[in-house]
Amino acid sequence: MDIHFEEASVRYEARTALEPLTLRLTERRIGVIGLNGSGKTTFARLINGLVKPSSGKVVVNGFDTVKDAEAVRAEAGFIFQNPQNQIILPILKEDIALGLKRRKLSGAEIDAAVSAVLVRFGIPHLADRRTHELSGGELQLSAFASVLVTQPKILILDEPTNQLDLKNRNLVERTMAAMDENLIVISHDLALVEGFDKVLLFSGGKLVGDGNPSDVIAQYKKLAGA
Ligand SMILES: Nc1ncnc2c1ncn2[C@@H]1O[C@H](COP(=O)(O)OP(=O)(O)O)[C@@H](O)[C@H]1O
Ligand SMILES: [Mg+2]
Repeated sequence: MDIHFEEASVRYEARTALEPLTLRLTERRIGVIGLNGSGKTTFARLINGLVKPSSGKVVVNGFDTVKDAEAVRAEAGFIFQNPQNQIILPILKEDIALGLKRRKLSGAEIDAAVSAVLVRFGIPHLADRRTHELSGGELQLSAFASVLVTQPKILILDEPTNQLDLKNRNLVERTMAAMDENLIVISHDLALVEGFDKVLLFSGGKLVGDGNPSDVIAQYKKLAGA
C-alpha cells in the first residue's frame, strides 16, 4: 500500500474540515483517532475519493483520487460508519452481487464470488435474508462482504464497532484481525488500535500525532484531558 497526501485540504463552504496535509502511508494496519469533529471521516473519505480535496491531491497506489477515480475505488473499499448506508437492496445476496455487476462476469461467476465472500465472513445462511431484518452484527459483517467481494487491496473502516454490543464487537474485531488486506480503521476503541502498525491523531482538522500506537494514544489521552 502506498498513499500520498500532497498538501491535500478539505473545505466545506467556509469551514475547513482538514488543513493542508502532506503524508505518506505504507503501513498495513493504521488506526485513526481523535475527538468528534476532528476530521477523521473527512481524511478517510479522501483516500477512496468519496471526498475530493479542495486543494492539493491524494494518490493511492499510483492513482490520483480525482483523475483516476474509478481505479481508486477498485483499490480502496470504504465501510461506512452506518452499515445501513452500505446495504441498499432488499435481499442480501443481491446487494452483494451489485458490486460485481459493472465487471464483465458471467452469472455463474457472480454467484460463485458472492457465495465465497459470504462463507469468508461466516454468513452463508444469510444469503436470501431480507436486509432490513438483519441484526447490527449481521449487518456489519454483510457490509464487509459487500465491499470485499470486489477484492480491494485497501479497506477503510469508519468506526466499525461503535454501534455493536460486546458480542458482535468481539466478532467484528476477530474478523478484522483475520483480514490480510491493508486496513485503515477509525476507532474510539483504543485497545483495538493499540495493536496496529501506526496510529494517526487528528485534532481540529489537523494531523497532530503520527507514530507508534502507545505514544499517540498517550498523546490523545492528554489532549482529551482523560
Ligand atoms: N458534508 C459536510 N458539510 C459541512 N461540514 C461538514 C461535512 N462533513 C463534515 N463536516 C464538518 O467537518 C468537520 C470534520 O468532520 P468529520 O471529518 O466528520 O470529523 P470526525 O469524523 O472526526 O467526527 C466537522 O466540523 C464537521 O462538522
Ligand atoms: Mg467520523
